[in-house]
Amino acid sequence: MTPLQYTIIQLLADGLFHSGERMARETGVSRAAVWKALQELRTLGVAVHAVSGRGYALAHSLELLDQSAILEHLPDSTRFVLEQFDVHRSVDSTNACLLRQANGHAVSACVAEHQNAGRGRRGRSWISPLGGNLYLSLRWRFDEGMGRLAGLSLAVAVAVIRTLQEFGIQDAALKWPNDVYWHGRKLGGILLEITGESAGPCLVVIGIGINVTMPAASGKDIDQPWVDLASIRAGISRNQLAGRLLHHLVEALLTFTQSGMSSFEQEWCAADLLLGREVILSQPGAEIRGIGRGIAPDGALLLEIAGQLQRYTYGEVSPRLLERPA
Ligand code: BTN
Repeated sequence: MTPLQYTIIQLLADGLFHSGERMARETGVSRAAVWKALQELRTLGVAVHAVSGRGYALAHSLELLDQSAILEHLPDSTRFVLEQFDVHRSVDSTNACLLRQANGHAVSACVAEHQNAGRGRRGRSWISPLGGNLYLSLRWRFDEGMGRLAGLSLAVAVAVIRTLQEFGIQDAALKWPNDVYWHGRKLGGILLEITGESAGPCLVVIGIGINVTMPAASGKDIDQPWVDLASIRAGISRNQLAGRLLHHLVEALLTFTQSGMSSFEQEWCAADLLLGREVILSQPGAEIRGIGRGIAPDGALLLEIAGQLQRYTYGEVSPRLLERPA
């Protein structure tokens, strides 16, 4: 995103109409340059309306991400754990940013207004239009190797559930291992990327995407039923959400480093979307059907198949419900 595009989005953030002429005056460029910048903002996923005689306006007002407004929602106990925290305007992927980060920080985090190559699980892309949603990543160094990471993605999912509960959303659910759903529609996703050695220190980058206000045009590119927070509960502040999510995430990582996933098991199970339901597991070349029976202490999925309990580990399979919940 260019500085001009950012200045224009700042002007439009109030949701009111602004004439092209006035924006040109305020930004010190020609009306043609303003018009071009507005076109480019549309390609980044911003819904800008034009009404002749009134000018340009966003579909709704917008709260831009702000570093200090985010950090004020972290108590000292988690804020001081973060060695670096950046707010980006546009990046390829917040996960990629932290994987590239060459400094030796053990714990750092970032958020972005826009991702032009947002990554989802299983090589899919994560639709990341400008200015409406939350794209947040946290990088954490584990000194004891990858063997200690079993169940980490479930602990992260619990941190997301705790955050949503704090905002009054009690009925979000988790589809193993860590998809966040609300009434059968996807609200958010979690992507863990790990580099390092299996026995030595390794770096984990935890990326979380939450649909906050998804423009309809971008939503059309999502290949499954989805929902955004704005349709569940109006008026949620993106900066507050980012701050509280970061707090719960850091707190969960501190607990996980100390004592593994046992302290998350109960909350994860309370949000388990697959529990007691008919589940289809897709494996390369095969489909398995069973009844969801929760998770094992290491975070593996438990399914009852022909009266036997079978376990499946992260990455092996992708479950879906036989019937979509109401
Ligand atoms: C999924 O497929 O469900 C996981 C989606 C994870 C998306 C987030 S958005 C922030 C971070 N940066 C990325 O490129 N991906 C993750």
